[in-house]
Amino acid sequence: MPHGPAVRFPEGFLWGAATSAFQIEGGVHQDGRGPSIWDTQCHHTDLVEDGHTGDVAADHYNRWADDVEMMAQLGLTAYRFSVAWPRIQPTGFGPVNQPGLDFYSRLVDRLLEKGITPMLTLYHWDLPQALEDAGGWPARDTAFHFAEYAALVFEALHDRVGLWATHNEPWCSSLLGYADPSHAPGRSEPAEATRAVHHLNLSHGLAVQAMRAIDPHAQHGVVLNLTPIHVVGEDPEGAAADAARRFDALRNRVWTEPMLRGRYPDDALADLAAFGGLPVEKGDLEVIAQPLDWLGINYYNDNFVRAQPGGSWAGTPGMRDAVGFAPGDDHTDMGWPITPDGLRALLVHLRNTYPDLPPVYITENGCAYDDPVVDGVCHDPRRIDYLEAHLRALRAAIEAGVDVRGYFAWSLMDNFEWSHGYHKRFGLVHIDYGTQARTPRDSAYWYRGVIARNGLDRVGG
Ligand code: FCB
Repeated sequence: MPHGPAVRFPEGFLWGAATSAFQIEGGVHQDGRGPSIWDTQCHHTDLVEDGHTGDVAADHYNRWADDVEMMAQLGLTAYRFSVAWPRIQPTGFGPVNQPGLDFYSRLVDRLLEKGITPMLTLYHWDLPQALEDAGGWPARDTAFHFAEYAALVFEALHDRVGLWATHNEPWCSSLLGYADPSHAPGRSEPAEATRAVHHLNLSHGLAVQAMRAIDPHAQHGVVLNLTPIHVVGEDPEGAAADAARRFDALRNRVWTEPMLRGRYPDDALADLAAFGGLPVEKGDLEVIAQPLDWLGINYYNDNFVRAQPGGSWAGTPGMRDAVGFAPGDDHTDMGWPITPDGLRALLVHLRNTYPDLPPVYITENGCAYDDPVVDGVCHDPRRIDYLEAHLRALRAAIEAGVDVRGYFAWSLMDNFEWSHGYHKRFGLVHIDYGTQARTPRDSAYWYRGVIARNGLDRVGG
């Protein structure tokens, strides 16, 4: 149970909730949408729990107007969503599929009517399957296709959308997707994962360039899942410390260093040489290091590494097997530890490391708990505690001088949680997948109060 004094956030702070296209939209065959790598993962592998698919999800493609009304009733001042590339270009390149683009145009109009600031993410993992068939992110061409797609969406919406993110968590799109089969496209090829890292970075820079050429006024950012990493337990050989260093290089610095400083970290270059190396061509780093207007950070928990007798940390550049657990801590339904102070520490560390760090948005933060709806209400005190503790940590980072402009809870509503299917529930709003009924949980009403007072009341002694 968190405790602390009443605190207020800076004036104009954005209070939002986040979603992503594949996780909520459904409507996979509507209006000319093409298949994505997550449709393939759902329908043609057994790697998604219980064979769940995104075919219907929360049916947001058809219920978007009610969902925006719900956001307004919850008092949100911002909403982060992603555009499905396969709705805009069903095969990943070529002309716009107008009905797909119109969907987002209507959504944006309605958000603005309700006074809700849209934040648009161009890529939240749903690569058109045709592009994967042509090589996917390990292929350099994909970066150029992405920039063309970004320009098409920007052309249509930049008059109404001010906050643009290229990628969501490119670590997942590359090192997870191509080195760990549980994540689409379900490949287990470390060398390809390594190539994908560079092409994700390159595509980010190319897309920002392409969008700025159309209109220099929008605010461009990227969303990274950065995390503090700690060694726990005895580490006589220093193996865990080295694993932590490598994990930090691949999860954090292989993104922040090229994007914010125009270079790859030497240790990451050396580690990845074992997997064929990063396919950097002349001029790429200048392209990647486009000045950013903001940085989005998705924060769920710190990560922990412990020495594994006889274990090898070098097996995969995804480093998934290097993650241990916080000693004796409480966990959410994902098995993730609850480490709110890590959010403060991460932000202060970034500000100290990058003195010219752009303004930050917390673009995702939240927890999975499966509290049921009983008689039309859902009491979820653990989610309220989690959010409250993280908001207090965020406030402490602001107090310490980090320029944070907004916070987006993950998620607005329950949704398709990737390889876990519908088994993990992150929503402020509960979804009954049988009826599609939306029931705001206690945490949603609690969040409405936070937004209304732009801060937190005193809690505990
Ligand atoms: C993040 C993803 C988001 C959701 C949360 C729980 O890594 O960006 O789509 O799955 O985790």
